[in-house]
Amino acid sequence: MNIHELLKQMTLTEKVGQLAQLSPFFLLQELEKEAAGPIRELDLNEQKIFSIGSILGIGSAEDMIKVQTRYLEKSRLRIPLLFMGDIIHGYKTIFPVPLGLAASFNPECARETARVSAREASVAGLHMTFSPMADLVRDPRWGRVVESFGESKHLLGAFAAAMVEGYQTPQPEGYRLSACVKHFAAYGAAEAGMDYNTVDISRLSLHNHYLAGYREAIRAGAKGVMTAFNVFEGLPCTINDYLLKDVLRDNLGFTGVTISDYASLFETISHGVALDLKDAARRGLSAGLDIEMASVAYLTHLEKLVAAGEVSEALLDDAVLRILRLKAELGLFDNPFRGADLARQAKLMLHPDHLASAETVAKECLVLLENNGVLPLVNTTTLALIGPFATAKRTSGPWSWHGYRDENTSLAEALARAGCHLLLAKSGEGPEAYDEADYRQIRDAEVVILYLGEAATRSGEARSLTDIGLPHEQLALYGKIRELGKKTVVLLQNGRPLLLAPLAQADAILETWFLGSRAAEAIAATLLGENNPSGKLPMTFPRNMGQIPIYHDRLRTGRPLKNEDRPGEFEAKYLDSRNSPLYPFAHGKSYSRFESHDLSLSKHRLTSGELLEMTINITNHGPRSGMATVLVYLSDPQAKISRPVQELIKFKKVHLEAGETQAVSFTITLADLTYHLGDGTLSYDPGKFTIRLGLSPTDLKEAEFTLL
Ligand code: BGC
Repeated sequence: MNIHELLKQMTLTEKVGQLAQLSPFFLLQELEKEAAGPIRELDLNEQKIFSIGSILGIGSAEDMIKVQTRYLEKSRLRIPLLFMGDIIHGYKTIFPVPLGLAASFNPECARETARVSAREASVAGLHMTFSPMADLVRDPRWGRVVESFGESKHLLGAFAAAMVEGYQTPQPEGYRLSACVKHFAAYGAAEAGMDYNTVDISRLSLHNHYLAGYREAIRAGAKGVMTAFNVFEGLPCTINDYLLKDVLRDNLGFTGVTISDYASLFETISHGVALDLKDAARRGLSAGLDIEMASVAYLTHLEKLVAAGEVSEALLDDAVLRILRLKAELGLFDNPFRGADLARQAKLMLHPDHLASAETVAKECLVLLENNGVLPLVNTTTLALIGPFATAKRTSGPWSWHGYRDENTSLAEALARAGCHLLLAKSGEGPEAYDEADYRQIRDAEVVILYLGEAATRSGEARSLTDIGLPHEQLALYGKIRELGKKTVVLLQNGRPLLLAPLAQADAILETWFLGSRAAEAIAATLLGENNPSGKLPMTFPRNMGQIPIYHDRLRTGRPLKNEDRPGEFEAKYLDSRNSPLYPFAHGKSYSRFESHDLSLSKHRLTSGELLEMTINITNHGPRSGMATVLVYLSDPQAKISRPVQELIKFKKVHLEAGETQAVSFTITLADLTYHLGDGTLSYDPGKFTIRLGLSPTDLKEAEFTLL
């Protein structure tokens, strides 16, 4: 298809239509019968509707075929619709939520999640997913941290890139999805963790930290970028020239399609910036916004604006060409129904291979926060499983709308299937949920498993909290079990860091996030020792609300705290709290005792063109095989601008048999020592660098080198 020739045949209405995205509802209505309905109020007519370019959300191949057929029948040029939707951590087979996925510290888990998602979603007729969310996050009050890959720009970058590649790499049968990275930009920096709130960060922070995830997704080839709801420098991102032109196109070199977030072009009016819908349309196109999702500023005003010469037709043409190019790349002109396949849909959804893959990935995401030896439960005779999620089947978490979330196995079922002797398996939030007979069983059980945390509806979009503590009822239940003197294993289901200090006396704490379709199987296997936990925290878990925001790569101060146990009076500290978090970023234990030793550097002085090889030995002292992640932190104490106290720059997960020692190597190049300045350019500083390597953020081996 020659898209330039096609463009020449298009009327203004048809060009503007390509920039509009609506839900399938609009195409399936009998417009003439809707004379008084919402469609009339939106000033839409059949001609406009049957010229739109894309559809938001579709549930099946049947629906896609129905909508595409109707559209093609009624539209003049028969330019196929593009179908987009939110496939965030799986389509029908659900994988761990992104924050949990990041805890695997293994980008291959992200690639696999995206690969399976692409198989299932593309046969249902979807072409582009609004994923990955590459927003850097530092505030657990923000509910959308569950959709993120956490606080480290390097971890985030690696995961965002792996997701894009996993979605977009064509699979043997042709399955693939295009990826639309979101929310550009810095949506994760919402003040006070309140969703949709003001973002007020410097350009230095934007380029150096917040852009990192989008940058890697774009480098990996993401075909789309979604703008964010928030402002940057006072201007809504959706109409922000600096972000959409200077940064996205010029600095990051993005050539694909941009799309607003849900009605975010319309919301520029509520921000008090656009005067009305017409002004919003003018400003959106001028800033470089291609597709408008859900609202109709473009559809109702752009044609008149272009005809009146208030917006240049050349700008409109550029946007249309980007959309047509994407459709051509997806093969839609050859086959408008590309992907949608009823037979394959029936065969592929929840395919046993996909479920097995979801379980394998889930097993890598569990984080063992505490363990005094009670886990794994190898010789335990009797168990009591209580707490709000003991028998729950809804383990998929937010954004699993297509998934068969009600058909997951509950942990109670999974443990019973694994042959455990459960004296009691009962869901209940607080101590009153259990009667005397229950407490008799609890007293008799050798170990009590308390499954606590958040329901799926507590995290995600518009799910901000001012208190990330566990509900009082749950803490009361925990207190009661401790009072009974029972061995207590706490399992946590949650989409954000929680305040866990009240659980200090638990014998073990296992963080299980929302692990998806095979959550229960993965948790049971971990409790019973068939899986050795290897996850690490992708976000810092604070001691209290007052420490927020708290993250591992904070900048230095002029008066650093030297000794947390004996703080000096005029040092950066709190009077009423320690500075250190409860669980630092990258904390996570194993059933094996791993040790790192013998760090060696290939040189201690290097020039800008040279490579530095670092090697550290890892030993698994047993008793079982398992995976360990080597962390590499950098600190740059002699720089033009203040640099982080330390920053994770690399990581590698390795598998070791019991008793095995492996040498793990990393290569440092100049690129690892550079950072961005506020104008987006790269910089580095000759001088001293400190490098720290190890398996735990609180136990690292240190070495220095000098960049000449
Ligand atoms: C969310 C996006 C999502 C979009 C479409 C918005 O409310 O912010 O992340 O992709 O809806 O569903």
